Amino acid sequence: MVRLAGKVAVIFGGARGIGLATVKEFLAEGAVVFASDIREPAAQLDGYRHSLVDATDETAVNDFVAGVIEDAGRIDVLVNNVGVHLAKPLTETTLEDFDNIFTLNVRAAFLGTRAVLPHMLAQRSGSIITTSSNGGMMGRPSDPVYNATKHALVGLTKSLAVAHAHQGIRANTVNPGAIDTDMLRSTLASPDDFEAKQHQLVASTPAARVGEATEVAKAILFLATDESRFINGAVLPIDGAKSAGAMPSNRYSLDFDLGVR
Ligand SMILES: NC(=O)c1ccc[n+]([C@@H]2O[C@H](COP(=O)([O-])OP(=O)(O)OC[C@H]3O[C@@H](n4cnc5c(N)ncnc54)[C@H](O)[C@@H]3O)[C@@H](O)[C@H]2O)c1
Repeated sequence: MVRLAGKVAVIFGGARGIGLATVKEFLAEGAVVFASDIREPAAQLDGYRHSLVDATDETAVNDFVAGVIEDAGRIDVLVNNVGVHLAKPLTETTLEDFDNIFTLNVRAAFLGTRAVLPHMLAQRSGSIITTSSNGGMMGRPSDPVYNATKHALVGLTKSLAVAHAHQGIRANTVNPGAIDTDMLRSTLASPDDFEAKQHQLVASTPAARVGEATEVAKAILFLATDESRFINGAVLPIDGAKSAGAMPSNRYSLDFDLGVR
């Protein structure tokens, strides 16, 4: 039995990476998927309805959502997945950097949710899933303003959950750690550097590897289905235990030994 049969899903930021992996999971489970992005999708999929939408543009977002309602009549699942990274210490962060990243990471989720929520309220059902980060659950020295945007998404999500749970609305975040996508590769300096930088990430992750986009998409899928119907306001780390606590100090060395002790 398919898990999203008859459900209509809207995904912002669905052209590549975690968003595209989510589109694939949703289509495989029978959903009608309306995905959007500022770029064309990295893969063509049967049944994939893609629109070019800048998720920070109020009119474009409202028009896109109105078009989905006109076409499908309802929206059961909203995935706010748009995001960019900014790896700068606070003293090097310009006001323009600050405004740009809050616009991309927070305004986009606000606009998408505000456009979809009235339809979910009218239906008295709906699941909103927002891609935060494990940086939205803890402090990190290298990307404080990115972290602030991801904390903001957690605050928005928990507030939506407590405001609207009695009206059949669920709102949850997924909080990935390092996931091998274009975003991660562009964050880690030049592609040639990827292996060396990836080794640093692996050394600081209890699971001793980076994650795959599909591993995040499968969690988003679970939160989209009725299997998770009593999960609301949750913040779900998908990070190989990185945000769970500190490892033994010898594990942080770059030549760490994974032998069983
Ligand atoms: N990859 C990681 O390690 C990681 C870790 C934690 C959180 N995340 C979060 O996961 C989400 C997806 O990241 P990803 O790694 O798949 O990155 P990605 O860059 O592959 O995907 C982000 C998508 O957002 C789209 N986008 C950017 N600006 C947009 C705009 N104005 N309007 C519409 N779409 C826009 C991009 O075109 C892209 O398709 C982001 O919110 C990111 O912050 C990623």
